Amino acid sequence: MKIYSSNLWTILAFALVVFSCTDPAEVTPELEDKKDDKDQAEVAIPLRELFKDYFLIGAAVTPQQTDLGTAHGQALKTHYASLTAENVMKPDALQRVKGQFTWDNADRIVQFAKNNNMKVRGHTLTWHSQSPDWMFYDENGDLHTPEVAMKQLEEHITTVVSRYKGDVYAWDVVNEAMFDWDPNGQIIYREDSPWYKIMGPAYIDSAFVYARRADPDAKLFYNDYNSIFSWKRNKIYDLVKRLKDNGIPIDGIGLQGHWSVNTTESDLRTTLNLFRELGVELHITELDIPVYASNDEPGSTEYNSTFSFRQKVAYSMIFNVLLDYSDIITNVTFWGIGDDHTWLDKPGRKAFPFLLDEELKPKPVYFEVQKLVQKR
Ligand code: G3I
Repeated sequence: MKIYSSNLWTILAFALVVFSCTDPAEVTPELEDKKDDKDQAEVAIPLRELFKDYFLIGAAVTPQQTDLGTAHGQALKTHYASLTAENVMKPDALQRVKGQFTWDNADRIVQFAKNNNMKVRGHTLTWHSQSPDWMFYDENGDLHTPEVAMKQLEEHITTVVSRYKGDVYAWDVVNEAMFDWDPNGQIIYREDSPWYKIMGPAYIDSAFVYARRADPDAKLFYNDYNSIFSWKRNKIYDLVKRLKDNGIPIDGIGLQGHWSVNTTESDLRTTLNLFRELGVELHITELDIPVYASNDEPGSTEYNSTFSFRQKVAYSMIFNVLLDYSDIITNVTFWGIGDDHTWLDKPGRKAFPFLLDEELKPKPVYFEVQKLVQKR
C-alpha cells in the first residue's frame, strides 16, 4: 500500500479539531466520586432498547467479536441493533487481488447480524485509503486511465453490493472524498486521492449509480469526518446538493462521530440544521469520545473520575442533541463495542471512548445517558 500525504492531513485535522478548544469540564473529583458510587446501583437498560423509539444504535466490529461464546458477542446481542465492519468490508479486505474476492470475514459479521436481528451498515465501497494499489496503478506504477479505473470501480461495487443485497441495509458508498483543512474554502475535493487524480470528482457520482443499480433497496450514504465544522460541512452540503440536483441516487450523509470532550453543541446543531435542508437521512457512523481534553495532557492507562466527568458532560450533550434530531438521524453507531478495543489507543495512552468499559460493562457515563433518555 502506498502512504498518501492525505493521511497526514487526516491526522493533523483530527488533532486540530480535538484539541483546539478549551476544556468546558471544570472537574470536581470529590463530587464525581460520589456520583459514580450512586450510579453503580442502577440497572442498565440495553442500549438497543433504550434508543428503540429514536434510532438504531450500532457498533463497529471485527469478525472475531461476532461470536456468542464470547463477552463481545454477548454485549453485541444485548446492546446493539446495527453492525458495521470496522475493516473487513473495505476494498483491500474484500478484493486485495484483482478479481479475487475474500468474503469469509465479512460474511461472518453479516451472518451474526442476521442471526441476532441486527441490521448491517456496509463500510465502505470507495475510499482513497485501505484500497489495493491495483485499483489505481498499472504494472508500471502509473495511474490508470479514467476508463480502466471506472470499470474496476464498477466491478468492485457491483460485486460487493450484489453479494449483500438485502443483507446490508445501508452503504457508505464514498468515504472521505472532501478536502479536510481549508479555511478559505478554495480546495473542495481531496485532490491527493488517487481516485480524484485519475478522474476528478466523477468517481463519486458513478459510485452511487453503480451501488443503486446493484441493490435498489439499499440506502446510500456519503460518509466523512470533521463534518460538524464550517470548513467541511459546507463542502459536504454542496456535494450532496449537487448529487441530488443531478439525479444521482444518494439517501444520506454519514457523520463520523470522532468527536471530543470539547465538541460544542452549537457545531452539532448548526450542522444538523444545515443537513436537514437537504432532505436526506443522517447516520452518526463512527462515534467515539476519547477522554483527553488536550494533546498535551499526559496519557493514562487508568480511567479516573476526571475522565468520567468529562465524558458525562460530553455524551449527555451529544445524545441530547441527537435525540432532538431523531426525525432525521436514523442510526447512531459507535466505532467499537467497549473500551478494550479502539483505534484511538496508543501505548501508555488509553482513550476509553465508549459507554461500555474494558470488560464491556456500563460505565457511569452510560447511566448518565440512560437517565437523559428516560427523562424525555
Ligand atoms: O490486518 C493487519 C495485520 O495483519 C497486521 O499484523 C497489523 C500490524 O499493524 O495491522 C493490521 O492492519 C491494521 C488494520 O487496522 C486492522 O487492524 C492496520 O495496520 C491499521 O492501520 C488499521 O486501522 C484501521 C484504520 O481505519 C485504517 O485507516 C482501524 O482499525 C479502523 O478503526 C479505522 O477506521 C476508520 C474508518 O474506516 C474511516 N474513518 C476513520 C476511522 C478511524 O481511522
